[in-house]
This record gives sequence, structure tokens and C-alpha cells, in this order.
Amino acid sequence: MKLLIINGPNINMLGIREPGIYGDKTYSALVELIKSACEKEGIEPRFFQSNHEGAIVDEIQAAYGVFDGIIINPAAYTHTSVAILDALKAVSIPTVEVHISDVKEREDFRQISYVSKAAIKTIMGLGFDGYVKAVEYLKEYVLKSSR
Ligand code: DQA
Repeated sequence: MKLLIINGPNINMLGIREPGIYGDKTYSALVELIKSACEKEGIEPRFFQSNHEGAIVDEIQAAYGVFDGIIINPAAYTHTSVAILDALKAVSIPTVEVHISDVKEREDFRQISYVSKAAIKTIMGLGFDGYVKAVEYLKEYVLKSSR
């Protein structure tokens, strides 16, 4: 099973960026955590982080026919990007949306998620562990759908 893990703008700044909200661990530490969760589950991961909306759309399009599932934290594009939503709908790959912080408890402008409309599940407020939960959830989901 192959999973694509996409992180959007400013996720590369983890560890420096607003540690009171996102914690003090880096993006590399996040990748290592997800890698070991995937190894445990026998999953082959690919990691992609970009600060550019079009690059994320390109990556989702390229996933068609290649990946069994997508885990995406679109970061700020969550609340603005119809293009990312449309790309996810176009490829129709089971997608779990993850947010490190509890977006529900934050500003009004974060209350809309376009990506949610294409996601089979949204996990938020669990810190980095949310990605591990997403790996486990997608594995179950993909195995169930292939039965
Ligand atoms: C985020 C929440 C978004 O509102 C924010 O723009 C981010 C990160 C999160 O992981 O909690 O960049 O997606």
C-alpha cells in the first residue's frame, strides 16, 4: 500500500513557527514519526511539502493511479483553496485531512475547510499524533474497500 503525505505552506517551519500552537518539533521529526508508523503498518510513504498551491495541485494530479491514499494538511490553503478541493475530487483517492492544532477552537476565518468536502475523515487537535491516526485509519479503509 502506498500513501502520499502532503503538507502545505509553513509546515516546513514547524519547531520555529508559533510553538505554543504547533509545538517545538520540526518538520523532519514529523516525517520520521510518520515513516515509522508506515513501516509498522507495511506502508510505503511519499512525503511532499510545498508553500505553493499549484505545486500541491500538481502533486495530487500525479498521484492518480499511483497512490492508495492521501494524507493532507493543506495548512492555510484549507480555508481558501477550491483548486486543491477540485484536484482531490478529480483523482478520487481516499483522503484524510489532518490539522495539528484544534482549528475548531481558533479564529473565525479558519472555520471553513474546502478540503473537508473531499475528505473521508478529518483529524484535528492531536498534534503530530494526528498523522499517525490518519495512517492507521487509511490502512483500515483501503483494506476494507478492497475486500
Ligand atoms: C493548520 C491549521 C491552519 O489553520 C493553519 O493555517 C496552518 C496549520 C494545522 O495544522 O493546525 O498552517 O493546518
